[in-house]
Amino acid sequence: MSPTRKRVLVTGGAGFLGSHLCERLIAQGDDVVCVDNYFTGRKDNIAHLLSLTHFEALRHDVCFPLYIEVDEIYNLACPASPIHYQHDPVQTTKTSVSGAINMLGLAKRLRAKVFQASTSEVYGDPSVHPQREEYRGNVNPIGPRACYDEGKRCAETLFFDYYRQHNLRIRVARIFNTYGPRMHPNDGRVVSNFIVQALKGEPITIYGDGSQTRAFCYVDDLIEGFVRLMAAPDEVTGPINLGNPVETTVGELAAKIVDLVGSHSKIVHRPLPVDDPVQRCPDIARARDVLGWEPRVTLETGLRNTIAYFDRLLTENGDKPQSAAKLIA
Ligand SMILES: NC(=O)c1ccc[n+]([C@@H]2O[C@H](COP(=O)([O-])OP(=O)(O)OC[C@H]3O[C@@H](n4cnc5c(N)ncnc54)[C@H](O)[C@@H]3O)[C@@H](O)[C@H]2O)c1
Repeated sequence: MSPTRKRVLVTGGAGFLGSHLCERLIAQGDDVVCVDNYFTGRKDNIAHLLSLTHFEALRHDVCFPLYIEVDEIYNLACPASPIHYQHDPVQTTKTSVSGAINMLGLAKRLRAKVFQASTSEVYGDPSVHPQREEYRGNVNPIGPRACYDEGKRCAETLFFDYYRQHNLRIRVARIFNTYGPRMHPNDGRVVSNFIVQALKGEPITIYGDGSQTRAFCYVDDLIEGFVRLMAAPDEVTGPINLGNPVETTVGELAAKIVDLVGSHSKIVHRPLPVDDPVQRCPDIARARDVLGWEPRVTLETGLRNTIAYFDRLLTENGDKPQSAAKLIA
């Protein structure tokens, strides 16, 4: 192995973000170990990497300790969509909390740098817009989203206690809504939902009246932010918001996707789920200032790439009616 080649562990590496991160790290010359229990991740997401010398995949659940030798750890393992994290809420909290303890323990033993994929959900249903890192959030600790929100909040606590108590080199990113190729087609997240419904020519389901806003970050932009944060000087611990500050209403998003797909899907409305935030938008001043980072990919470009991915996926699976969509390449 080249003496300068870093060994990097990516937990949740077979998931949506993790697979893009693995790709990016290999491209920059790192030696990557992907750890995943394939709960929401898929082998297909990393199939193209498996034959590469500097990539290896390990089936492992982060709730259990792991003993390997690495220089850096990106801890992404955790189901991210409400459908998946509410499927087994106890396991979700365990994954966040025990997963963080195990990865921090590993980092402590190896004196490795460790990155936590935290989330804008730590802000709960925010009463402050846009959300800055200083905002402490408005989380319902006993609601159906709490297994995820509180699990992630506890993981942040552990990261900062390991930092203070053991001088560990930590990086905490608070990720806002991110989309792109390799999102799970049935995870109920708004971008993948709308695209799949539009490609199938099915009605587009909007929860609520569609006036709630979201800010969508394209995956390539987010991964650039991860890598910059990891490479930043050690005093840059975070938490640091990574997301796209351009707000779009859910209604506008639906209309844009219908237009880009060229679909004839109708829009239908359903009641808002419990504790669904009405507005969510990052303040990324800190990321701009400290990392020189900001999103570059427009919503239209990102959506075109994502639509192309789902179009291929549905076609391969025989899931797309021929007449439903005329895709814009
Ligand atoms: N995508 C987003 O918009 C977003 C937003 C905020 C935070 N995040 C965070 O980023 C990380 C990755 O999210 P994603 O969108 O790629 O989701 P994902 O579900 O595609 O990826 C999560 C991965 O973790 C794996 N995993 C789950 N439990 C595990 C366990 N116990 N042991 C080992 N592996 C396990 C899954 O199989 C999957 O491959 C998550 O921690 C998520 O909370 C994502």
